[in-house]
Amino acid sequence: MTNTFTPRVFSGIKPSGGLTLGNYLGAIKRFVGMQGEMETIYCVVDLHAITVWQDPAELANATREVAAGYLAAGLDPEKSILFNQSQVSGHAELAWIFNCVARVGWMNRMTQFKDKAGSNAEKVSLGLYAYPSLMAADILLYHATHVPVGEDQKQHVELTRDIAQKFNHDFKSDFFPITQPVIDGPATRVMNLRDGSKKMSKSGESDMERINMLDDADKIAKKFKKAKTDPEPLPETLEGLKDRPEARNLVDIYAALSDTYSDAVISEFAGAGWGKFKPALADLAVDRLAPISDEMRRLMDDKAEIDRILKQGADKARAIAEPVLEKTYDLVGFLR
Ligand code: TRP
Repeated sequence: MTNTFTPRVFSGIKPSGGLTLGNYLGAIKRFVGMQGEMETIYCVVDLHAITVWQDPAELANATREVAAGYLAAGLDPEKSILFNQSQVSGHAELAWIFNCVARVGWMNRMTQFKDKAGSNAEKVSLGLYAYPSLMAADILLYHATHVPVGEDQKQHVELTRDIAQKFNHDFKSDFFPITQPVIDGPATRVMNLRDGSKKMSKSGESDMERINMLDDADKIAKKFKKAKTDPEPLPETLEGLKDRPEARNLVDIYAALSDTYSDAVISEFAGAGWGKFKPALADLAVDRLAPISDEMRRLMDDKAEIDRILKQGADKARAIAEPVLEKTYDLVGFLR
């Protein structure tokens, strides 16, 4: 018997440090765009955040900031479920079962772990190593069929598919869906403004390498004006950006902010120098981000309201998760 699964979207953002333009273009903006197309569940993944040390007060603040970011960008709590992961205990419970399904060899192939642990692999937390198994639990606890993510998370969604397949095979069921990663749009990977080979990250050393969602107009303009580029003007075709990662990144950001594609931006700016392109990009970014950051600030001043929305979302999430977890326990042979 083959199960049919209701189309359902799940994705998550980690509350560690503040939100960046990378989170907005690569995740939040795309998530909000999927609202109404299918059932959508969006999570602030606080259990994932503590795989590296988080100051408790800052974790609480970052959790509210991510929630405010989703809401300010247009997430409607009536249309989507929005909650923080630790309020639904099923994530941790299913992750344990998946720890016993996934193989150590699979985890050893995870490139993000290798990058993050580096030469320090003996000293990182056990949680950081098991992180992809928790991510599989996040997705499969809701039988999610579609997961919008950035390029860097593709391998984790593939692992989720492997875990679902092995579970289904081991327990002779068709219980978990084989989830699709959804990786589209011009800015699924927003890069660092000072080094186009690195992802824009909230934890990088210099504030100049990223745009924070709460940066004011002057800061945004200054950061784009100082962004690293090369001496060449913009080319006639997208092909011409092939070995110019910093230039390519700024064009992709422009395209994503203006809801178009990078080749359309190139046609518009073909032959233009940075003296023309950067101020246009800064103006566009300020224009698009200012209303969102104003709304984020307003929301952040009303903590009780954010907490209420998260709790309501958690109640709805739990109602979907509980029967899935119960059935999983039955399949595994746990008595209750
Ligand atoms: N690992 C993701 C990231 O670092 C965040 C995440 C956790 C996630 N659980 C998820 C994304 C489930 C999609 C689905 O960006």
